[in-house]
Amino acid sequence: MLPGLALLLLAARLLMTLLVTGGAGFIGSNFVLDWLRESDEPVINLDCLTYAGNLHNLASLEGDPHHTFVRGNILDGDLVSALLRDHRVRAIVHFAAESHVDRSIHGPDDFIQTNIVGSFRLLEAARAHWMSLDGEAKAAFRFLHVSTDEVYGSLGAHDAAFTETHPYQPNSPYSASKAASDHLVRAYHHTYGLPVLTSNCSNNYGPYQFPEKLIPLVIHHALAGKPLPIYGDGQQVRDWLHVRDHASALRRILAQGTPGETYNVGGWNERPNLEVVHTLCRLLDEASPRPDGKPYSSQIEFVRDRPGHDRRYAIDARKIERELGWRPDETFESGMANTVAWYLAHQDWVRAVTDGSYRDWISRQYQ
Ligand code: NAD
Ligand code: DAU
Repeated sequence: MLPGLALLLLAARLLMTLLVTGGAGFIGSNFVLDWLRESDEPVINLDCLTYAGNLHNLASLEGDPHHTFVRGNILDGDLVSALLRDHRVRAIVHFAAESHVDRSIHGPDDFIQTNIVGSFRLLEAARAHWMSLDGEAKAAFRFLHVSTDEVYGSLGAHDAAFTETHPYQPNSPYSASKAASDHLVRAYHHTYGLPVLTSNCSNNYGPYQFPEKLIPLVIHHALAGKPLPIYGDGQQVRDWLHVRDHASALRRILAQGTPGETYNVGGWNERPNLEVVHTLCRLLDEASPRPDGKPYSSQIEFVRDRPGHDRRYAIDARKIERELGWRPDETFESGMANTVAWYLAHQDWVRAVTDGSYRDWISRQYQ
């Protein structure tokens, strides 16, 4: 074996743990579950369990020695530094965030704290840890920042989709806080050389999504006989990506991405909201018809629009395909069908996460 390769393998063996932040949330938990299905590299899962973080998502990992859950805050720099040192972390995958646009409109404070200050604290701890490494371990270290297409702002109906060089024009407190964190991540690479990777992803859907977001909310409300709220005219367009495809894209970026680069991740599935809701209603009509025989679409109600509502997002995901050979597996039809099936089969999970604080939020938002 070549001496360089032997050294690289040795360094990799000595330093082989992933720190995942926000791994009890929707995308983070799907990523952790997929990671541990595909790899035996251990995961330290740091999550402070806000309303959006849920240990039920990780129930199948109970007793798995490759998964260590730590309840803690990314704002706690000492805790993060200790985890990086004690577990000899070789990469951070950073999901932890406040993620719901409507909540950022009602109260932006937590978004500024977690998404901006929290990401800054994490970067500081990562920089100190990375500086303490040498040789191959230092060269192999990665900080993968999981961001959003919302930082690019809103597109007109005929505009070209977002590329990685599209100007940043965030329009909500949520997207502005994510944009700020993207800029910090970029600066830590440019100024200190920290080997960062950034992904900007479109709307995810799939198992374990908290039912405040459009798709799980519509499924949940439909089955409960409640109104299906459509903001404004329902013609806003999003590009839908199955969360398992997002997880596979992140694994690819972590393994093969070039430090300092950003990668747009999308599903090639642009759909107006109203069409998404009609698709969900049709799938539910087939799988779990209403007792009175009426279609679930009869529950649709148009409600007051979201302030500053972005009209259209669309991701040009050609760079990640060209440079890293990644494309999504799910089509819109297959992904929506398996998502509806998952929620129908996991009503116990829905009941567990829709507690009193969830009901308070729903009555405040849709009063
Ligand atoms: P989520 O709200 O479901 O989960 C966020 C997780 O972070 C929760 O488990 C929460 O407890 C944890 N968390 C929040 N603040 C924390 C803190 N200060 N310290 C530690 N943990 C904290 O979010 P999600 O939908 O899974 O999104 C994950 C990431 O992906 C976010 O950064 C989001 O901006 C980004 N993103 C999401 C989407 C999407 O469609 N959901 C699309 C693109 C990018
Ligand atoms: O684009 C990526 C982003 O996608 C992520 O960065 C965010 O974390 C994630 O929450 C998501 O943001 P959106 O605002 O696009 O997702 P949401 O599910 O809240 O809404 C999707 C669309 O549906 C949006 O146009 C608003 C609309 N909507 C949403 C809700 C909750 C409704 O019409 N009615 C609703 O009740």
